[in-house]
Amino acid sequence: MLPASDFTEQYESRINRPVLAKAADFQRQERLTHVIFAQQFDREMLDHLCSTASMIRQISRHRQGQDFLSGLLSHKRAMLYFTQASTRTFLSFMAACQILGMTCNEIRDPTTSSEFKGESPLDSMRMFSSYFDVVIMRSNMAKFAESCAYLMNELEAQGRRSVPVVNAGSGADEHPTQALLDIYTIQRSFEFTSQKDNARNSRFDQLRRRYPDLNKGLANKTYGFCGDVGRGRTVRSLTTLLALWEGVKFKFIYPDYDKLAPYQDMLARLEETGVHIEHAHSLPEVIDQLDMLYMTRIQHEHDTEADQQFFETFDATQFTLSTDLLPKMKEYCPILHPFPRNHEIPFDIDSDPRAMYFRQARNGMWIRAALLAHLFDVDGKIGAHYQKNYGV
Ligand code: CP
Repeated sequence: MLPASDFTEQYESRINRPVLAKAADFQRQERLTHVIFAQQFDREMLDHLCSTASMIRQISRHRQGQDFLSGLLSHKRAMLYFTQASTRTFLSFMAACQILGMTCNEIRDPTTSSEFKGESPLDSMRMFSSYFDVVIMRSNMAKFAESCAYLMNELEAQGRRSVPVVNAGSGADEHPTQALLDIYTIQRSFEFTSQKDNARNSRFDQLRRRYPDLNKGLANKTYGFCGDVGRGRTVRSLTTLLALWEGVKFKFIYPDYDKLAPYQDMLARLEETGVHIEHAHSLPEVIDQLDMLYMTRIQHEHDTEADQQFFETFDATQFTLSTDLLPKMKEYCPILHPFPRNHEIPFDIDSDPRAMYFRQARNGMWIRAALLAHLFDVDGKIGAHYQKNYGV
């Protein structure tokens, strides 16, 4: 496979523009044409996607609803081009396509495609766009998805066939659709509802007795990110979105080692938005202050020999959510993790009602279906169907 520089060079001047100038290239009026980075989403669009995801979830409960949804995009085909390992993102995109009736095909191992014979990734991309209506892609090469989106825009400008590109994880830089499912999960958690709620008493009322300042929604909360904050693309994308809410605070909890610390470009970008940022090197010391805890694994696959030496004496307990920490956490604090996990969340935690990570992964299917519906302009039909059948 060609090194990243061979294709990013071609689009270098576009890649190096300010992010808002780039975002304009990936949408037409209010509708996204490609999904490349988290800064493309504003609060209004996030609310719209979360609301569409909830409608799809509800409509899917009945056979008639499933038939309606699967008729929406049955004339469309998706290519899942995942040359970097994935379980959740790959499967939830595939399930999302199936919910909307799309046919899927996949390339996961580039040695089975003509890239093995030296075909350039950009040529592969153009071939996919000849056969499919959307390319959903994961790559270990930063900026590859962005470069593919520019290629598609060039083709469109020449009057040639062009399809939406969806970044399902690109190198160390971005994982925008993971951030969407994280936001959706946090939003649902901070509704503070329970099936036992009634007019006289609700879960929110009960929580307010213990936490009088608690408010519903994502604003005015303290969000903790624990583990390999530096090398994790999910934290980069999620913090970008959370910074859209007022009064949010971020606590980055990571080993005192440069590579695992939040990168300066991310900190600078977040500071510009006015969010309050704190740093810590021990989860037990700050866990009681958090309204949400986002755990991440240490990404040892990126370790150098020097890193391995550091980890020989590393105290993992400071970045592990052990069961003895659970009583110290706020009663409502959702625990998220993009997964896969290693040992930072032991299996014993899974039965705690605050453990959201399996629900979070399932939410990926609903929000990705909502995103595809948005890209293909059928979200309005979903809203109309919901209104007609559920009267809301
Ligand atoms: N969260 C996530 O991206 O998981 P996968 O690597 O399994 O897709």
